[in-house]
Amino acid sequence: MPMPEPVVLPSPAEMQAYARRAAAAGRSVGFVPTMGALHKGHLSLVERARAENDLVVASVYVNPTQFDNPEDLKKYPRTFDADKALLAKAGTDAIFAPGDGAMYDPDARTWVEVGDLPDRLCGLSRPGHFRGVCTVVTKLLSIVRPDRAYFGLKDYQQFRIVEVLARDLNLGCAIVPCPIVREDDGLACSSRNVRLAPAHRREAVWLNNVLRHAEARILKDGERDALKLAGELYELLERNTSAEIDYLAIVDALHFADLRKIEGEVLIAAAANFGKVRLIDNTRLSV
Ligand code: PAF
Repeated sequence: MPMPEPVVLPSPAEMQAYARRAAAAGRSVGFVPTMGALHKGHLSLVERARAENDLVVASVYVNPTQFDNPEDLKKYPRTFDADKALLAKAGTDAIFAPGDGAMYDPDARTWVEVGDLPDRLCGLSRPGHFRGVCTVVTKLLSIVRPDRAYFGLKDYQQFRIVEVLARDLNLGCAIVPCPIVREDDGLACSSRNVRLAPAHRREAVWLNNVLRHAEARILKDGERDALKLAGELYELLERNTSAEIDYLAIVDALHFADLRKIEGEVLIAAAANFGKVRLIDNTRLSV
């Protein structure tokens, strides 16, 4: 039987009215925030939300305040009709799709920032990015009022910052981490993958290869020297790709502090530019 079409809510006021009706009817809401250009990673979040809630709301909004590079914002794929069809097939009840001017008042002057967590990893080369993410996520959560919101772990730093934000602001919404979904060759699914030139697409698989190598070195060989291993991983990525490496870091998974000794909750994260396309990936280990 075909899934019913999701209702499209183009303004915060309409989304808020939908959320009020859901609350009045005692129905739980699972929320999947996206910027569109959906792939199977997003759909795995919808699937999880579908399994755990009465209603599933997804947002499709390319948030301008989180782009540090105007060119990147301009080129960000906008594929609403295809996104809507995928969301319908995955069983989404409502799509919050605010138009360009609908989310920020022209006189807006409120920002949400989460301490020093954005000062590491991606935040270093993307100034203002996490301020934009935190601000829009706070706005989305206060408009949609979900019981649970689903975030993919490919953007591990984003997930952790949002988790801290929801805790610190008592937003009353569980932030649910969801596993990274990968293509058959191991490349993490990303809306940016379609922009990779064929040669870069072949090389990009090395981001995943390097992380698997790190896991083997730590878990099988017992390597505990973070500096030594980070150097080894950097060399491996450099030798096998033409990518411009932004960072390859071994840090503590809660606060992103550099580790000398690999122990505890460990995050190994990488970001690299393949041509003009910036890709990220990571793995988290309990050592
Ligand atoms: O991960 C994303 O797609 C975005 O950063 C988010 C969470 C939808 C906020 O714009």
